[in-house]
Amino acid sequence: MSQLTESPAWKALQAHFDEVKNVHMRDLFAQDERRFQKFSTKMDDILLDFSKNRITDKTFELLVNLAREREVEQWRDRMMSGEPINISEFRPALHTALRNRSNTPVMVDGENVMPKVNRVLEQIRYFSERVRGGHYRGYSGHLITDVVNIGIGGSDLGPHVVCDAMKPYAQRGMNVHFVSNVDPTHLTEILKFVQPESTLFIISSKSFTTQETMLNAHSARDWFVKLTGNQKAVARHFVAVTTNQQAAADFGILPENMFEFWDWVGGRYSLWSAIGLPIVLYLGMERFEAMLEGAHAMDLHFANTPLEKNIPVILALLGIWYNNFYDAQSHAVMAYNQYLRRLPAHLQQLDMESNGKTIDRNGNRVDYLTGPIIWGETGSNCQHAFFQLLHQGTKPVPADFLAPAQSNNPLGEQHCILLSNFFAQTRALMQGKTEAEARAELEAAGMDEDKIREVLPHKIFEGNKPTNSIIFEKLDPRTMGAILAMYEHKVFVQGIIWNINSFDQWGVEYGKQLADDIYVCLHEKGDASCYDSSTRGLIEHAMNLNFTD
Ligand code: F6P
Repeated sequence: MSQLTESPAWKALQAHFDEVKNVHMRDLFAQDERRFQKFSTKMDDILLDFSKNRITDKTFELLVNLAREREVEQWRDRMMSGEPINISEFRPALHTALRNRSNTPVMVDGENVMPKVNRVLEQIRYFSERVRGGHYRGYSGHLITDVVNIGIGGSDLGPHVVCDAMKPYAQRGMNVHFVSNVDPTHLTEILKFVQPESTLFIISSKSFTTQETMLNAHSARDWFVKLTGNQKAVARHFVAVTTNQQAAADFGILPENMFEFWDWVGGRYSLWSAIGLPIVLYLGMERFEAMLEGAHAMDLHFANTPLEKNIPVILALLGIWYNNFYDAQSHAVMAYNQYLRRLPAHLQQLDMESNGKTIDRNGNRVDYLTGPIIWGETGSNCQHAFFQLLHQGTKPVPADFLAPAQSNNPLGEQHCILLSNFFAQTRALMQGKTEAEARAELEAAGMDEDKIREVLPHKIFEGNKPTNSIIFEKLDPRTMGAILAMYEHKVFVQGIIWNINSFDQWGVEYGKQLADDIYVCLHEKGDASCYDSSTRGLIEHAMNLNFTD
């Protein structure tokens, strides 16, 4: 048995779960008029209402005890102070330093890293103001109107979700595109819409070795040279964001067009670094800094707020309550805001690449579930896709609902309808509909008894489906920063409680290794007999179908 499941706090929760597992939220709300007041908390205008959860006062007390017993506060301080808590890569995890707007010293190996963080921010400011101001132009004098970010994983998903979400705040005439997939369609389809003379390519790669990114970067360069016939102009139209300055120089990037970040920034936590360059080119430095301010505000909330009122800690503990005691295998995120349609994609890497682990910090196999499957869709679309399962399915799916009180695009009644649906769905998921209520509705509709008997079982809703509701004033850069930082800290707290290292990702290496060999076999149409019969059969079938190289 592991230290976690043997701990007093865990055992107390297990015993408590057996007592309360069938308690219905409908009854909990009926028993306490002030349940919302008790189970909600705020940071600035961001409200977390966690009252629609399957918790009692005792549950919440025991969950907070678990956080204390697992030393969440101490680990938080270790992370933020630059201790090498990423134990398998012997590195700190210091994304908080990237947005440390108070500029207090943060030490890594005896060096205060803030001067270099600020130097790169100034480099980004200077470069972006020249590009956006028309002072930095293409080789033939054209304004830069299109930025193409070539990167994958954390070098794509973070800046991509932000640029999508912050569209209302973007500079007119500046378009940003994201190429990530090695599928040639991705780059091909983007290049159809840009002109070499007015396009700036950002090669975003912490390692500058990722196969997909480097292939796409070389293809983009080939495209550029082919259309312009100007090899020298590459240096003007390609910049790099990386920790690997030498590899960038070998590609032909000028030193002044290299934007560095550091190995103590994890890829999925890197949008606050120079990886955010596409954000700055699209929104401007002022709005990027507003994002940093918002994230820093959430960092201060996380660092200074008692656990009982600490938004990331509460989200983390509730996630563990369902993941480890109710056996929920996934967690859904429904942003009732179209601009946040890419939020689940970013959170999938943030959460599943951080906590999709089986080996704990001591090198032992865990005997409990760790990271959940993260998924989701914007509201109200989600209601017409999978809410049937959420309401009447057999699988528990705890969910976050997020929405701004104010729309960036007020139009008729739509935003009011959107919010009404948000509030209605979380209410319906919580309270359900009893047999008596369903019967009364059918009778009121005039249905005869025979039909009622036929239909009634299908009209009953068990309810007791837990949701967190997160409401904020408006989806602006500051709020965007705070929300993304909120989820980063939620993931961190869960990793600490599960005693796993949330900051490495060895699991992504093995597939890449196998792909290298199979590529040679496919590319050279070689002998596949060394592979298992499935892999061999697939390779041979693709060859017979004359696969495209
Ligand atoms: O998915 C594995 C991974 O290493 C991620 O952690 C990272 O964000 C992505 O690949 C891209 O890595 P790089 O920025 O080095 O190209």
